[in-house]
Amino acid sequence: MASTVLLFAILIGAALSALAEPFRDRIRGNIRRSLVPQDLSQAAKATCGFRRPETIVDHDSDRIDCWPGPYIPDIASQCRAKGCIWKPSTRPDGSSTGAPWCFYPAERVAFQVAPGGCSVVNNTVQYRLVRPGNAHTFYSTPWSAVTLAVEELDERKLRIKLYNPEASRYEVPVSLNKPTTGSTNPLYEVRVFNDPFFYFKVIRKSTAAVLFDTSLYGGIVLEDQYLQVKTRLPTTKIYGFGETRHATFRLPTDVSTPMWAKDEPPSYENGNFYGFHPYYMVVEDDTKAHGVLLLTSNGMETRRSNIPSLTMKTIGGILDLYFLLGESAEDVTTLYTELVGRPFLPPYWSLGFQLSRWGYDNLSNLKRIINRNRAAGVPQDVQTLDIDYMRNRQDFTVDYEAFAGLEEYVKELKREGIRVVIILDPAIHADSATKHPHDPPYLSYNRGLEQDVYIKWKAEDLSKTDPINIGPNNILLGKVWPDGRACFPDFFTARTRRWWIEEVKRQYETLKFDGLWIDMNEPASFGTNSDGTGQWFCTSGDLPGNHSCIGLKCPQNNLENPPYQAYIPNKLSDKTICMSMEQECRPGQMCKHYDVHNLYGWSQSEPTYEANLQATGSRPFVISRSTYPGAGKYVGHWLGDNGADWGALRYSIVGMLEFNLFGIPYIGADICGFFMVPTEELCARWMQLGAFYPYSRNHNGNHFPDQDPAQWPLVADVSKKALAIRYRLLPYLYTLFYEAHVYGQTVIRPLHHEFKHEEAAYDIQTQFLWGEGLMIAPVVYEGQRQREVYFPDAVWYDLYGQKVAKPAGPATLMVPMPIDHIGVYYQGGVVFPAQAPGLNTVQTRNNPFQFIVALNSRQKAEGYVYWDDGDSINPIQNGKYIDGYISCNVTNPLFGAPFVHVNYISETGPVPFDGDDIRVNQIFIYGLDIPVNRVRGGYGLEGPARVSQIGGVTTVTFSAPLSAASFGLFLD
Ligand SMILES: *[C@@H]1O[C@H](CO)[C@@H](O)[C@H](O)[C@H]1NC(C)=O
Ligand SMILES: *[C@@H]1O[C@H](CO)[C@@H](O)[C@H](O)[C@H]1NC(C)=O
Ligand SMILES: *[C@@H]1O[C@H](CO)[C@@H](O)[C@H](O)[C@H]1NC(C)=O
Repeated sequence: MASTVLLFAILIGAALSALAEPFRDRIRGNIRRSLVPQDLSQAAKATCGFRRPETIVDHDSDRIDCWPGPYIPDIASQCRAKGCIWKPSTRPDGSSTGAPWCFYPAERVAFQVAPGGCSVVNNTVQYRLVRPGNAHTFYSTPWSAVTLAVEELDERKLRIKLYNPEASRYEVPVSLNKPTTGSTNPLYEVRVFNDPFFYFKVIRKSTAAVLFDTSLYGGIVLEDQYLQVKTRLPTTKIYGFGETRHATFRLPTDVSTPMWAKDEPPSYENGNFYGFHPYYMVVEDDTKAHGVLLLTSNGMETRRSNIPSLTMKTIGGILDLYFLLGESAEDVTTLYTELVGRPFLPPYWSLGFQLSRWGYDNLSNLKRIINRNRAAGVPQDVQTLDIDYMRNRQDFTVDYEAFAGLEEYVKELKREGIRVVIILDPAIHADSATKHPHDPPYLSYNRGLEQDVYIKWKAEDLSKTDPINIGPNNILLGKVWPDGRACFPDFFTARTRRWWIEEVKRQYETLKFDGLWIDMNEPASFGTNSDGTGQWFCTSGDLPGNHSCIGLKCPQNNLENPPYQAYIPNKLSDKTICMSMEQECRPGQMCKHYDVHNLYGWSQSEPTYEANLQATGSRPFVISRSTYPGAGKYVGHWLGDNGADWGALRYSIVGMLEFNLFGIPYIGADICGFFMVPTEELCARWMQLGAFYPYSRNHNGNHFPDQDPAQWPLVADVSKKALAIRYRLLPYLYTLFYEAHVYGQTVIRPLHHEFKHEEAAYDIQTQFLWGEGLMIAPVVYEGQRQREVYFPDAVWYDLYGQKVAKPAGPATLMVPMPIDHIGVYYQGGVVFPAQAPGLNTVQTRNNPFQFIVALNSRQKAEGYVYWDDGDSINPIQNGKYIDGYISCNVTNPLFGAPFVHVNYISETGPVPFDGDDIRVNQIFIYGLDIPVNRVRGGYGLEGPARVSQIGGVTTVTFSAPLSAASFGLFLD
């Protein structure tokens, strides 16, 4: 016995000192930061020299078309007469490549550095750029002067900014966490060339990979309403840019994709939808990766070719590029969220399953749906209220007829462990007094008017619109959900922010919601540029009340009708407000809606987060439809008004992966589809997939039949099984959100982020990971009862703890997928914190913890658990949390016989907070190669422990507090 005690003492010491450190490196994003020598004498000083000329490869597809018109017989000579180059581009078989045959010579589209036009200021090198006298003008007025500034922000972050030093142009009023350290020995080098024309390259020094290269004809164009930058890319492994829709996670080539926030169902490929994310990430040949943010909020277009190259075009502002050099794709996401802001920590309850629909119609129907799901045993944490609950579709009201008693019912739900999220639209009803003279006055609108919070017409535009679009104090009136007209708060201003927060707090006085859902914030306005006659909103039954057939009329000018429109369909103001409107984008500075349109949802996000916080005094939960870089600090997102079809189900995986790159990991799609009617099979499969969305919400459009899980016995059964897996693993999911919040990793992760040397992993979009450990392979095609699952090179266990039989290395296996089954696999080497599932998180949070230990081929596993009270504010800053490291190891250091050692060690030590009496009472070990039949010893345990081994799963039952400094077990 004495020797055993001694042995344990040695082991505890080893565990405490040795185990935690390497793990902490790994958990912080699998990031091995390259240690950069801080030797200033070695540092390359920023200088003004140019590189020697090099041969520029003329790829036909780089050509800038000089003859957009039709073919004419003497086109070659006409082309030359225009000062352009005529050079046919054909394939070996004689067919045309599609590249222009008549194109601009480089010297007519390119810049030169002015003589003596280079200077160095601290970490910034500035180049004054000029164009030749016969420069070609593309669409609008060239800038009067151009400066390119290369700013070394830190070793891994670089900024290259092109601006007009003579005339200030619009710049995005979103502040980034820009490093101020400067760099001594950056990972990048910027090479500048000036012969035969100006271009630059961004090089990764360690590998010589060329990350950005503008040595292309027309690589850079800077005009008032047309800006372009074209670059070669090191590979075609490019991801990002949003919000759009495409079938593959890797961005498609040879298609021009517009970006412009729009209230538009994402029903087709390569369109522009709700949010705006001018950011991409490229994986280089050796699996290092970099990200590039073009900090713009103007309408934009992107196009990629297989050269590979990328063209970005915007229609205003400046070109402000941030380069982020990562060691891996996952590392780039941590750099990006460091720059734009880490995502918010969601309240625990928001990780539960959520029911929603538009069209509950009344409170009794809402209750009926909740009750029937409860009766069917379907878990529910959140009930969402769409616009039905409002009186006359007005924010901050409750329909006192159809939803009479809602306030009491919300309190009752909360007592039962169900939280409530309500929708708010930015548009405020301006015609309440005339449309609803018998209802109480709509004071929220009146107060907004008094406090001057709404977007107003400029005096000179008053005569250029219809008087029906002009309200008191010249506010702009458009058309959204309320009958009659609506006005639009300018959320940039401090007074609007104050008003909004006060209105939310007033509503909370009676309606005790928990979270807020901000919709329609592109902002949407229906029927713009029409007179409203025959528009759906004045004829359709979607809208109760007496709807006016009106539309917003915008003036005619070069903001409303820009010379180039970046592939954005219809007019820019289509379904939104006029481009010529002004908003106070910085204190005292007016900006055109043309410039700040894509920031509307962003500008509403922080005030809504703050309003939620002030109203409830608990951790905020806000979902926003329109997002911009940095929005993830305050809001989550759903992928919008999808259809009930298999394509939309598949796209939801790509969309989730993409929003994780954008730093908005709280993401999901409407389960079972918003528009149209899902089949029973589709809804069953979608509930399975949706059980693994971070934002797991079944939501439905108005007038479509109910599609909550209890609508069909089969779907209810399938949902219960899938949600039980989710609820069991919520502690793991919550820990991933903590890591995203603190270290900036993805939560939903593409396979190639973890298995970057496996080429096949780069093109998988029907599978995804939760963090590093859990792989989900849903059925995404109709009629399938089996599917191919790609298993990366690791040990994998199925839900029952059985090792997946596969050859060494990566393997694709056909796996049976009966209707009630979704492929979920634990990766060997990872420990998953878990709790027994329940019908909501109030229940599960009271259950003891379990650790699922999935051993790797070396019989080891490690994992991490973060835990707090689930809804307090700033638990991390306040130190009100537990974080523990769990490891398991088969070892035989002193005696002949191998034994198993499980160790738990808290980094924070015992930290008190409400609910800190939670226990760990079970450990399931998967894949143990040795037989064990007893608990040889332990430490930090309360009471006896026992072990059993059945069918490949070793189960240890014991009790220890999660808030312990450490505990452990020895099995042999
Ligand atoms: C350059 O750095 C110095 C010292 O840090 C600082 O005082 C100065 O303002 C900087 N100049 C510019 C143009 O940023
Ligand atoms: C509530 O709405 C449902 C339709 O969704 C309708 O069948 C029912 O009669 C309504 N009940 C009340 C009390 O209005
Ligand atoms: C495994 O156990 C041995 C002995 O306790 C220890 O030295 C080693 O660090 C452990 N490794 C891991 C990964 O837990």
